[in-house]
Amino acid sequence: MDQNTTDKVRPGDKRKLVDRFGREIKYVRLSVTDRCDLRCVYCMSEDMQFVPRSQLLTLEELHRVGRAFVELGVNKIRITGGEPLTRNNILHLFHSLGSLDGLDDFTLTTNGTLLARYARDLKAAGVSRINISLDTLQPERFRNITRTGTLQRTLQGIDAALETGFQRIKINSVILKHRNHDEIADLVEFCVRRGMDISFIEEMPLGVISEHDRAEAYYSSDQILVDLQQRFTLLPTTESTGGPSRYYRMEESETRVGFISPHSHNFCDSCNRVRLTAEGRLLLCLGQEHSMDLRRVLRANPLDDAPLRQAIIQAMDLKPKGHDFDLTSQPVLFRHMNATGG
Ligand code: GTP
Ligand code: 5AD
Ligand code: SF4
Repeated sequence: MDQNTTDKVRPGDKRKLVDRFGREIKYVRLSVTDRCDLRCVYCMSEDMQFVPRSQLLTLEELHRVGRAFVELGVNKIRITGGEPLTRNNILHLFHSLGSLDGLDDFTLTTNGTLLARYARDLKAAGVSRINISLDTLQPERFRNITRTGTLQRTLQGIDAALETGFQRIKINSVILKHRNHDEIADLVEFCVRRGMDISFIEEMPLGVISEHDRAEAYYSSDQILVDLQQRFTLLPTTESTGGPSRYYRMEESETRVGFISPHSHNFCDSCNRVRLTAEGRLLLCLGQEHSMDLRRVLRANPLDDAPLRQAIIQAMDLKPKGHDFDLTSQPVLFRHMNATGG
């Protein structure tokens, strides 16, 4: 860390985080664990090595990082994983972050398996929105795609979130050719019936996986849109959730259909986010390795957050222009998606 810097930030100072390309960072994704109770084929390989628990940030350290970002002008935090709800005592973190002044959007990405247990507590802690991963409505396919999961559990989790009164629940579906591309319209209908949004995601080449060839399984957002237009009327909107989705609205319904299209419609120019891995590495882009080790800063300064804020400000200079994902070659990034939660 540069000791001579005069760019000191004090608690209460409202600073903007701006990178070299003029993009303002308002959104932080905190991965609280790389472990998961599922093993989705696009996300993990069959035999994963997980980070030893001793190397994870503690819940207290995660809170310090979240608080520092909010003090620096971030107004959206998403808790992600692996599966965040598998982490011991995770509700403590939701409660402590949920009460931060200046946090307008406090969100969770989950696979839903533990929502039946946690939905009410999450609402009480101040979680404003939940995104739930669901790629198929067929039990056998669900088992194949997740390798270990039971569709019923995720459906019960979705029901629990709806019953708890969460608004704008969003389903995330990664669409793969010949695995689930024929279920696109069914997934939309499932969401329309429940007043939920849905985002269709193009698979990204993070980490080596074994069960399919990513280039062969590619199913573009444009193709999904064409498929949907056979059955529904979709109206383009400029609505945003502050994430990468481009949204359409279903005619005569509250449901928004989003497209996350890192291959076909690159969204890096408007990127407003950074992400923290469960070991405390601040990644400036999902598709690149530029990073800053915040765990070291946290542990060197257990009672003072000023160096942490300083490190975060300096990290903005490392944010690259964008990703350059290529499905046709072996992944350049060995990190699987569960290391960052997207
Ligand atoms: P909201 O817009 O707040 O609903 O959330 P989100 O779509 O940003 O978050 P979510 O965790 O639901 O992520 C959905 C998908 O978007 C995941 O597959 C993420 O990997 C992907 N995603 C989010 N941010 C980025 C990004 O900066 N780059 C890329 N390539 N993908 C991203
Ligand atoms: N490409 C695209 N999306 C992925 N996800 C997990 N792995 C990948 C990948 N390789 C999705 C999950 C979840 C979200 C956080 O990221 O399905 O919905
Ligand atoms: Fe777990 Fe999500 Fe990865 Fe599936 S995509 S294995 S639910 S972290």
